[in-house]
Amino acid sequence: MTAEWLKNAVFYEIYPQSFCDSNADGIGDIPGIISKLDYIRELGCDSIWMNPCFDSPFVDAGYDVRDYYKAAERYGTNEDLKRLFAAAHEKGMHVILDLVAGHTSSECEWFRKSCLPEKNEYTDRYIWTDTVWVAPQNIGNIRGWLRGGYDRDGSAAVNFFTAQPALNYGFAVKDEGCPWEQDMHDPGPMSTRAELKKIMKFWLDMGCDGFRVDMAGSLVKNDPDGKGTIALWQDFRRWLDEEYPEAVLVSEWGEADKALTAGFHMDFVLHFGPSHYPELFRTAHPYFSAKAEGDIRPFFDVYLNNLKKTEGMDGVISIPSGNHDMDRMARTLTPSEMKIAFAFLMSMPGVPFVYYGDELGMREVEGLSSVEGGYYRTGARSPMQWDCTSNAGFSAASPDCLYIPQDREMMHVINAEAEMADPASLYHTVKELIALRKVHPALQSTAGFRLIEDTYPLVYERSCEEETILVVINVSDEEKQTAQDTSGSLLWSFDHKALTGNTLPPQSAFIIRKG
Ligand code: GLC
Repeated sequence: MTAEWLKNAVFYEIYPQSFCDSNADGIGDIPGIISKLDYIRELGCDSIWMNPCFDSPFVDAGYDVRDYYKAAERYGTNEDLKRLFAAAHEKGMHVILDLVAGHTSSECEWFRKSCLPEKNEYTDRYIWTDTVWVAPQNIGNIRGWLRGGYDRDGSAAVNFFTAQPALNYGFAVKDEGCPWEQDMHDPGPMSTRAELKKIMKFWLDMGCDGFRVDMAGSLVKNDPDGKGTIALWQDFRRWLDEEYPEAVLVSEWGEADKALTAGFHMDFVLHFGPSHYPELFRTAHPYFSAKAEGDIRPFFDVYLNNLKKTEGMDGVISIPSGNHDMDRMARTLTPSEMKIAFAFLMSMPGVPFVYYGDELGMREVEGLSSVEGGYYRTGARSPMQWDCTSNAGFSAASPDCLYIPQDREMMHVINAEAEMADPASLYHTVKELIALRKVHPALQSTAGFRLIEDTYPLVYERSCEEETILVVINVSDEEKQTAQDTSGSLLWSFDHKALTGNTLPPQSAFIIRKG
């Protein structure tokens, strides 16, 4: 891959408001993250994706940016971010920021100026109809319209929530009846494009290593086959390759063939869209449950198809443990099931992403009111559980001032300090598996993958020039047989279980080097 460091990277996703609060205001911050880099490094993760940290009114947890050139005050300053990048680099780590490319906050200065009836520099920065009485339905990648509340006579397209007006990158297919729809190469869309480059340049020059791009596949409107958005990102990627060849782009797209064609280095398997990803760890009958009532085949049908379509491309497909938009794995899986699930996550192709706290089995905090547009997502965003001190070491603020309430019932048991001290913990399993991946090229991002058995057990092979590795997983609570020859050198097994012949003990997982 162009960015060599991705071949062997393992990412850790940090939701900054919930990671570590250094100034006792109840909300996590950048100095807090800097103070925990050693923890992340010790787990084995060498790269970080940080959720949005720019100035914002936080209607959608920062996915509503007001100023792209300024760290949100509650997290610190631009200098703090610069220190974070430098501190990470010193430890051999990389940091990517969340780039909300498709929309801003309605409080962004650009939008305010765009709302003025007089023509100005920002008139075409957003997508506007030519009268407020028109708000067409069913245009691809437009979720609704902002109407009224300003004196410009038009409706402004919305990308997500209504406080997130869509930036104007133009339309791939224009409707003749809508003369206000602009071409991708019209001056408005071209100036939005130039601004996005400027933003990327600003942070890359500061030392950041790339971006996870929010809703990356939706920038160009009425773009039925994605060709417009693909062409747009190809332009960004060409520019990056020339100016910042080590920088990486990760997409929230969920259609790897399009995302990789567009020039992304990685695309995620997502909890929405056609991926069947939720059926792995979530849903009523997840595959990775000892009850063995799940079906992993629909997931693999899509995954293998995508692997095939992206063969030879300069990018990978990443399977995350979770993220800030979905339920915690621990809501549906037991600690043992999670250990086995991590054996899968750490031995699959693509770059692994560990959502903060998943390495500890942090639980979904149930019954919370929504915080900053979290809604059902709020329970998976609770503050990190570090130790047994107050607020589980997250913050010195009073417990009722925390950004989101913690898992008060279990935080004294499920926390980093306790699990680091217990060799049988999930933390240690994740750490062992990452360490194994780091030294075995066949387990890394771009090594080959061959699916062998896909019911219970799950058996697959990873291979590269240097070695071939067999992964055998029986998550069920019953003994199972595999048709595979399991001889070879046993590199890792869940719970140190032994493997004899073709019989797989209940709840077992084995990673075997074949040669
Ligand atoms: C992405 C983010 C999500 C956010 C949305 C709108 O899906 O992951 O958290 O609410 O985009 O920006």
